[in-house]
Amino acid sequence: MTVQVYTIASGKGGTGKTTTTLNLGTSLAMLGKKTIIIDADLGMANLGILLGLEQSKITLHEVLSGEAEVKDAIYDGPYGLKVVPSGLSLKGFQKSNPDKLKQVISALTDGMDYILIDAPAGISRDSIIPLAVADRVLLVVNPELSSLADALKIKTLTELVGKTVDGAILNRTENEKTEINSGKVKELLGMDVIEMIPEDANVRRAAAFKTPVVIRTPKSPASIAFKKLAAKIAGEKFVEPEVKKESFVERIVRAFRRK
Ligand SMILES: Nc1ncnc2c1ncn2[C@@H]1O[C@H](COP(=O)(O)OP(=O)(O)O)[C@@H](O)[C@H]1O
Ligand SMILES: [Mg+2]
Repeated sequence: MTVQVYTIASGKGGTGKTTTTLNLGTSLAMLGKKTIIIDADLGMANLGILLGLEQSKITLHEVLSGEAEVKDAIYDGPYGLKVVPSGLSLKGFQKSNPDKLKQVISALTDGMDYILIDAPAGISRDSIIPLAVADRVLLVVNPELSSLADALKIKTLTELVGKTVDGAILNRTENEKTEINSGKVKELLGMDVIEMIPEDANVRRAAAFKTPVVIRTPKSPASIAFKKLAAKIAGEKFVEPEVKKESFVERIVRAFRRK
């Protein structure tokens, strides 16, 4: 298949772009898809941190500043996933030239099925370029009106650079009646919700362990949703992991072990 470049964007910061890039990328890799995830959030890079790659000397910063070649900024993630992190320093951010991103992406396409770009929030130059280089754009939104209002601006920006948004990922949903649902997103943003990812404390716990939640707790609600999203994107049938019921004895043993 030809490579598909997805940009994971949002208007507001902190909606879950990095979490989605990491877990969608890992889930695609688990499906056997050749996948690479790139941290194009050059100023607030944290994709590498979530995989324990924060000490990497050569990152996208060095590539975008012309100091290094992209092949030297590719690191191994789980299940054959490839990762291009960005550096954490402000200096690295300042020396990066985001205009080079298109060239970098072109150099990474060989033999790949999916390239996922973790984009910065907002409407700066660094956030427009990832929209312009994408084949497909996914918007990560939270069930709040402010998140949707900001997402609408990104939709407009995406169209301005000649692309269209594929759909929204409604992240951190809870079962509240007042919450914004898929219907509301469709009405306000004019796009479908491709997947809803529930609020799940396992996401934060997995981050603390520098492991994608889809690996650390594969049966948790957010993990199942990320895997469903990956299956949809890959056009494959989602197979629900078997949730084994704990027996009474197993529960007691686990309670004792915890102490
Ligand atoms: N479904 C979820 N359930 C619980 N916490 C989440 C979920 N998605 C994201 N988070 C948490 O929200 C915070 C922001 O997520 P992150 O992916 O870094 O957002 P962004 O990249 O858009 O700034 C992180 O602390 C992350 O662990
Ligand atoms: Mg982020």
